[in-house]
Amino acid sequence: MAFGGLALALALLVVSVNLLQVASSDGDHARCEGVVKGWAASVAGSEGKDGDKLSLRDLLFFLHIPRTGGRTYFHCFLKKLYTNAEECPRSYDKLRFDPSHPDCKLVVSHDDYSFMSKLPSERTSVVTILRNPVDRVFSTYEFSVEVAARFLVHPNLTSAKLMTSRVLTKSRAVSTLDIWPWKYLVPWMREDLFARRDARGIDKVRSSHRVNAYDVEDMVMPLHQYINDPVAHEIIHNGATFQITGLTNNSYLSGAHEVRHCVRKHPDLGHFVLQVAKSRLDRMLYVGLTEEHEESARLFAHMVGAQVLSQSGALNLDIKDNQPTGNDSHSSTLDPEDEETNEHLNSTHGSQNNRALNAADTVKDDHGKGNLTVGKLMEAYEGCISKLRKSQSNRRKISLRKVEGANFSKEARWQVPEAVLEQIISLNSLDMELYEHAKKIFTQEHLMLKIQQSTVIQHKQLTDQKGWIEMVCSSWSCSPWKVVLFGLGVTITIALIILALTTRRRTFKLKV
Ligand SMILES: *[C@@H]1O[C@H](CO)[C@@H](O)[C@H](O)[C@H]1NC(C)=O
Ligand SMILES: *[C@@H]1O[C@H](CO)[C@@H](O)[C@H](O)[C@H]1NC(C)=O
Ligand SMILES: *[C@@H]1O[C@H](CO)[C@@H](O)[C@H](O)[C@H]1NC(C)=O
Ligand SMILES: *[C@@H]1O[C@H](CO)[C@@H](O)[C@H](O)[C@H]1NC(C)=O
Ligand SMILES: *[C@@H]1O[C@H](CO)[C@@H](O)[C@H](O)[C@H]1NC(C)=O
Ligand SMILES: *[C@@H]1O[C@H](CO)[C@@H](O)[C@H](O)[C@H]1NC(C)=O
Repeated sequence: MAFGGLALALALLVVSVNLLQVASSDGDHARCEGVVKGWAASVAGSEGKDGDKLSLRDLLFFLHIPRTGGRTYFHCFLKKLYTNAEECPRSYDKLRFDPSHPDCKLVVSHDDYSFMSKLPSERTSVVTILRNPVDRVFSTYEFSVEVAARFLVHPNLTSAKLMTSRVLTKSRAVSTLDIWPWKYLVPWMREDLFARRDARGIDKVRSSHRVNAYDVEDMVMPLHQYINDPVAHEIIHNGATFQITGLTNNSYLSGAHEVRHCVRKHPDLGHFVLQVAKSRLDRMLYVGLTEEHEESARLFAHMVGAQVLSQSGALNLDIKDNQPTGNDSHSSTLDPEDEETNEHLNSTHGSQNNRALNAADTVKDDHGKGNLTVGKLMEAYEGCISKLRKSQSNRRKISLRKVEGANFSKEARWQVPEAVLEQIISLNSLDMELYEHAKKIFTQEHLMLKIQQSTVIQHKQLTDQKGWIEMVCSSWSCSPWKVVLFGLGVTITIALIILALTTRRRTFKLKV
């Protein structure tokens, strides 16, 4: 009897605990729904329909989503359009950024949209670039490994950390390690690389079993492990959506972490966040696509570059020479963006690569915007980008030599199992949808530019015609009736000639 009673009590306990859990998870969902909806409402309230989104305002904020190729825009466009003085100091560096700088007109940052709270938001235009989320995750992984691998020149992790902090404090340079998200992703990968090296012995470099470049377990944390780590959940997945909504792990908004955690825990709340992200994209001055590299650059030059030039009083819109130059000759290069910021670290990193980078910059460093046109801008961009890519791919090759077998490439990506790709897609469902939306915006931008250009051409033809009439008239004193008579005369002559020709043909036919 006593035994039965105990069993019953236990069963009741189990049931009640389960009920409690269900109730608390229900309660959590309700609480989270309140949190997320409250946030979405406050965003909608603070962002009214604000005027003409297509005109460039006083300040340009380049919301640089990591691994979208934004660095080439920064180096090869923005640096040509803005002088160093116009660039807000330490653009990439949150800690030392000072937006109160009076003349600055350009901010380029990995900070998320909440950074707008530090800027005069009604006078700020925002631009960004989106990328296929699967490629972005691959690229994030590759870059984490690449940067972390550079530290393998040190005998152990302690010494690597020590040397780096010494160099950094001495040079006061901005390093990848100062910048979100790399300040979390690189040390995490670095620690893992050293641990794996210690485990296999420092002398043994040959990878024993190798499935594909993304699964070299004895050298590097494999991709499938990387994407499932809590750090990746916190920072990488749906990163574009969180960055555009200002909800990243790096947000200035105090409630951001709660909203993000709620959305991660209850995926059905994601659409509230997605809605905010889409409407933000809609209101941006420009949205580019990493995959449409050439067309994006052309649009950027026309939609943003032309306005910067005209604001600085040097517009000379060049409408002819901006046709796409066939296939992207650089598309064989591994990645459009292989480095994040200028690293001035001497000890562990190839300084010749930095020199190569600087050489790529000299073309534009005179900042003689005086005669710069959109056409010239595109030309300079093409030259700049190919140099930049060359130096970046060299740098990557050198870094990855230290983790044998992990030679990443587009071809190697094909060998990654389908299941891993599917997992990346499902972990990034918000970003997948946002990317589709960005593609639509891109098509609209493209159309708009076409219309704008065709009206410019029509206008030009019209003025050309007017010019011709004026020229004739100036040498032949024109009065309206003379012009009409002249026109009538020409018409009659043409009619007579046609008549003559057709009658001749008819007579030929009759003869035959
Ligand atoms: C790390 O390497 C440095 C330099 O070779 C050495 O002095 C130090 O003892 C090493 N530390 C550990 C924990 O092995
Ligand atoms: C980097 O190297 C250059 C010369 O190669 C040297 O002048 C400079 O002091 C070094 N910087 C640091 C931070 O060590
Ligand atoms: C951001 O994420 C990293 C990595 O997971 C973590 O170490 C850090 O504490 C997080 N920061 C905030 C403010 O949550
Ligand atoms: C562009 O690339 C595609 C596929 O790689 C190729 O079929 C096509 O001939 C190329 N066009 C030009 C103009 O090079
Ligand atoms: C612009 O071009 C004109 C003639 O083409 C030249 O005289 C002038 O110096 C140029 N200005 C700048 C800033 O390069
Ligand atoms: C990758 O690296 C391994 C050795 O590290 C080499 O044998 C292989 O040829 C490389 N593959 C490619 C595609 O470069």
